[in-house]
Amino acid sequence: MPITATEKIWMNGELVPWEDAQIHLLTHTLHYGTGVFEGIRAYETADGPGIFRLTDHIERMHNSAKIMMMELPYSVAELVEATKETVAATGLDSCYIRPIAYYGYGEMGLNTIPCEVDVAIACWPWGAYLGDDAVEKGVRMKISSWTRHEHNTMPPASKTTGNYVNSSLAKVEALKAGYDEAIMLNPDGTVSECTGENIFVVRNDKIITPPSHAGALEGITQDSVMTIARDLEYEVVVGELARSDLYIADEIFVCGTAAEVSAVNSVDDRDVPCPGPKTRAIAEEYHKAIRGKLDRYKDWVEHAR
Ligand SMILES: Cc1ncc(COP(=O)(O)O)c(C=O)c1O
Repeated sequence: MPITATEKIWMNGELVPWEDAQIHLLTHTLHYGTGVFEGIRAYETADGPGIFRLTDHIERMHNSAKIMMMELPYSVAELVEATKETVAATGLDSCYIRPIAYYGYGEMGLNTIPCEVDVAIACWPWGAYLGDDAVEKGVRMKISSWTRHEHNTMPPASKTTGNYVNSSLAKVEALKAGYDEAIMLNPDGTVSECTGENIFVVRNDKIITPPSHAGALEGITQDSVMTIARDLEYEVVVGELARSDLYIADEIFVCGTAAEVSAVNSVDDRDVPCPGPKTRAIAEEYHKAIRGKLDRYKDWVEHAR
């Protein structure tokens, strides 16, 4: 998806013009995939841009860094403020936000201990990741031939840049084969998640999503969806799913900051009813919640200005 330039990018404490946000070829993280990042969205609300669960995202970024033994030079509160400042500086009502911490120029080699940590925050307008009609039409899924990395190989709980090589391999494989997105199985053969979304399966009236030990990221949208689903009085279970559970599901949807809530219409060419009633009801609530339209979820929206 092409990037649209905006006014400013926050780099190490300063807002700099978009075109000046440059890094050196010998930036450590470019070579070894050792950065940590977040994907956040701001939506237009009646009170200006509202950043969805900003503090939760920045806390997860701190946890990603902790797993990588990377010391972030800014606290959660400082990065929350910096993100608000960056969004306000673009003047956009809604945008995608990408904070990233990386080992910059100055050291080479796999030892990250002597490396300095740089932090940047960029934001730009970004449409629906899996298409504008992803709830109504649904997306075609392929089980990837690539296995989701497990906890002792690459820690999936950390949004580390290098982890996304696994996701990119799966995404490109799925697209080249004519599908929209890939579902990843873990080394035990159970369902983990998608390349950048968590997955929910409805079977026998229960809504099931795999746990983090299955290799899934603890998604902030996943958590929001579980709250919304329970508030709608649906039964939600965190549990293991086998590949064939997907083929005979009553409904499937995937969710993430970029993809929001997107229905699934088939898995490996087995049709899945789409969009099912639970998917539709949850997607509708989620779309109101992110825009600050539901009082019970007002705390999820943090205003940029
Ligand atoms: C691998 C992976 N799983 C799930 C998600 C969904 O997480 P969230 O809802 O916090 O955006 C993401 C997006 O960050 C992701 O990259």
